[in-house]
Amino acid sequence: MKKIRLGVIGLGSRGSTLLGTILATGDAQVTAVCDVYEDRIAAAEKKLTDKGEPAPKGYTDYRQLLAGKECDVVYIAASWEDHARIACDAMRAGKITALEVGGACDLSECWELVDTWEQTRTPFMFMENCCWGKFELLSTSLARQGKLGTVVHCHGAYGHDLRDEVLGGSTAITACAIICTATAKIIPRTSWGRSPCFSG
Ligand SMILES: NC(=O)c1ccc[n+]([C@@H]2O[C@H](COP(=O)([O-])OP(=O)(O)OC[C@H]3O[C@@H](n4cnc5c(N)ncnc54)[C@H](O)[C@@H]3O)[C@@H](O)[C@H]2O)c1
Repeated sequence: MKKIRLGVIGLGSRGSTLLGTILATGDAQVTAVCDVYEDRIAAAEKKLTDKGEPAPKGYTDYRQLLAGKECDVVYIAASWEDHARIACDAMRAGKITALEVGGACDLSECWELVDTWEQTRTPFMFMENCCWGKFELLSTSLARQGKLGTVVHCHGAYGHDLRDEVLGGSTAITACAIICTATAKIIPRTSWGRSPCFSG
């Protein structure tokens, strides 16, 4: 079977992890990668070639990736503020577009996505993909089989408080970590290790 030729835009925490997930499907080949940081491109290339894959074409400008012929599908895992713009450009370039959450920062960007899809009809999907996680599928299956008894109430929440990060940015968090470390105070684990746009 012909493999899907995929380009990954954004090779941070999510994008670099996804490389392995994509390969594990057995259906896709990562033929192009893009990040504004060259070392992230190099790391992605190494990750793929170490697994016996051909080296993907690396780009620092996503517009060049979109103009290239290496991939038919793009997976966008860049920073939030660039999501809508890159996704609309991808649809206009005719690349099947998979866009990570959040997808849009305001209503105008939501409409931009809708309008662009209506104009281009390029297949587009938001990668709100937790629902296909092992735990979520197991829960659904147990409920459908009646193993949980009668479900009378469901309560869901995504406990990922981003208020500090949105209001203060990663610099504030880093500064907080340094101050807390300097004064030898124990700080909550949730304050550590956040990348500028960790959000998923
Ligand atoms: N679905 C999930 O379960 C899940 C989990 C984690 C993150 N995410 C989503 O994935 C996305 C990335 O999150 P992350 O934690 O990897 O963030 P991150 O900051 O670690 O990575 C983002 C990467 O995109 C690159 N980038 C930014 N703008 C770019 C541009 N214009 N062109 C090319 N590269 C660009 C950055 O240099 C960085 O390497 C976010 O949208 C986040 O919400 C989803």
